[in-house]
Amino acid sequence: MIVIQSAVPLNASSTPFWPVQTAPTHPIIRSCPVKETALDPHFSGDMKRPKQTGAHPDGKKLFTISSLVSGVAVAGSAILCPHAAWLAIPWLLYTGVGVHDITQKRHTILRNFPVIGHFRYVAEMLRDPFRQYFGDGDADRPFTRDQRSGVYAAAKGDKQTRPFGTQLDVYKPGYIWINHSLSAKTPAKKEPRLKVGGPQCKQPYAISRFNVSGMSYGALSKNAVLALNKGAKLGGFYQSTGEGGLSPFHFAQDIDIEAPNFDFDQFFVQNKDKIAAEGGDLVWQIGTGYFGCRTAEGNFDPQLFAERAKLPTVKMIEVKLSQGAKPGHGGILPKEKLTRGIAKLRRVPHGQDVHSPPTHKTFDTPRGLLQFVQQLRELSGGKPVGFKLCVGNRYEFLGICKAMLETGIYPDFITVDGGEGGTGAAPRLFTDHIGTPLDDGLVFVHNALKGIGLRDKIRVIASGKVTNGFDILTKLALGADSVNAARAMMFALGCIQALQCDTNNCPTGVATQKPSLVKGLDVNDKFVRVANYQKATIRDMLEIIGAAGLDSPSQIRARMLHIRDRQGNDRTLDTVYPNIPAGSLLKPATVPEDLKKDWEIATADAFVPPGVVPEKRKMVSLTVLKDGKPQEEDVEDW
Ligand SMILES: Cc1cc2nc3c(=O)[nH]c(=O)nc-3n(C[C@H](O)[C@H](O)[C@H](O)COP(=O)(O)O)c2cc1C
Repeated sequence: MIVIQSAVPLNASSTPFWPVQTAPTHPIIRSCPVKETALDPHFSGDMKRPKQTGAHPDGKKLFTISSLVSGVAVAGSAILCPHAAWLAIPWLLYTGVGVHDITQKRHTILRNFPVIGHFRYVAEMLRDPFRQYFGDGDADRPFTRDQRSGVYAAAKGDKQTRPFGTQLDVYKPGYIWINHSLSAKTPAKKEPRLKVGGPQCKQPYAISRFNVSGMSYGALSKNAVLALNKGAKLGGFYQSTGEGGLSPFHFAQDIDIEAPNFDFDQFFVQNKDKIAAEGGDLVWQIGTGYFGCRTAEGNFDPQLFAERAKLPTVKMIEVKLSQGAKPGHGGILPKEKLTRGIAKLRRVPHGQDVHSPPTHKTFDTPRGLLQFVQQLRELSGGKPVGFKLCVGNRYEFLGICKAMLETGIYPDFITVDGGEGGTGAAPRLFTDHIGTPLDDGLVFVHNALKGIGLRDKIRVIASGKVTNGFDILTKLALGADSVNAARAMMFALGCIQALQCDTNNCPTGVATQKPSLVKGLDVNDKFVRVANYQKATIRDMLEIIGAAGLDSPSQIRARMLHIRDRQGNDRTLDTVYPNIPAGSLLKPATVPEDLKKDWEIATADAFVPPGVVPEKRKMVSLTVLKDGKPQEEDVEDW
């Protein structure tokens, strides 16, 4: 595999800082698997598009039928020939193991695929001894085996020590580390939480530094949503709903929403006290589809929003502008996953893919976005309101910054998602080639807010391939206040990276709506794992903070992290990602050279400033031959 590194540090020259190398050693090195894409036959224009594959047979049905058929065969053989009675032993063994698999609750794969599922565990067991002979195997994508194993161990509360020393090459370019202190501190037992919500907000929220990133009910199964919500409640962190709206499962209520007479509005009225007492903290995400606060025509419904936003476990509101895996593209829920209940919940027609529009209908300028933020804050009774985006054109974000200065309206938080972010379903080229990677986007947002003098009024939340406490620290060092994880939380739920989220065949019941697969995910087992994972990750982060001689994660700075450059030298992260001086965007004379052009053209009155996009070409009518007949067609002129 050839990996071309594409690190272009903010304010630095565009000369690649990292060398061409064989594999990234740390997520901070952004990589672009060019060779693989170019050689992939699916990529070639003259090849057919790949078919959606991966439909799993119903494992439980397969087991039941095979057990019954073989049982009848064994009984028949024994009647015809008494010596054949010994065949009952393997049959009993087979059936016994299968029944045990279906009734146990720890392993979803075994519940969903009795007997046959054991092969996966055997393969897992043999993997490490065989790796000595057959190569590395850590090249799994998008998350390596090592990253996933770390999450599984933390979620199960397994031992987290490593024998024999690090497996990383500490001299490889891109290797990253933090220096310890001779005056190391005893790690704090409890994480000091952060206040979100400025003076414009009446109900500030205390957030943990590690929360569940937005994943809709629809993309995830009801059991996955239930387990994440109960895990959030147990661990005291938040779950973002994703753009699919609020469901009973986001309030820890396991209710049959597929029942024909189920009424969502009644559910929220009738269960008010129950959901307040039992639900975990939520960030309600509002995407372009306005699911959960949508009129019949697909517009934003202020009254419905106000009713639901006031629910006590809804702690913050997040307007979704874009997401790293598919920026510039609306959300997609494949029709295979759209049950009647989900269609009713989202107020969309059943039987077809759900495509959210790429942009919001309620605003089309930076100023309009902030007015919408203000409206949501008022309608919710003063809860913190922010927005989520993957950084795209820099002048667009700077336009939002100018709008903040001009209107005096500030979001309470901004969530920055990296181009490396995950999704349930997205067009492949959007996931591969669109959107700023997290580290670059995060530093840019941090700098922009610092430059306009508002960094201390707005919290920055980061998401993009965070799996462990050290990952969290690197994002905090680059400018985040808090970090979200989506896929790592899925691993805590038992996801095995089967890459079937868009087919409705997720074998672990996490990202499917097939009742037989969903049933395999035992909520009571998995919610504890989610809480364990979050707690262990925060604990690990606090231990590193203590070893570095710091009392709180808020004291981490980019200069405290070291990275090996292409010459093999040790550089601190602040030299790779320099910060701009506070307030430097406020006076023309102090605007940093790197931001000058974007800052000058950015405007509060349009996401795309006038003159930036070349004019559309004039259309002219041309006579073309279609099936041998002349026809008029509108084409672009020179
Ligand atoms: C199954 C799935 C569904 C997602 N749904 C949403 C969504 O509804 N809204 C959103 O803003 N992001 C969504 N995301 C993106 C995540 O919230 C997150 O921003 C991104 O995956 C980066 O985090 P990660 O690297 O920890 O997964 C989804 C991701 C996954 C894997």
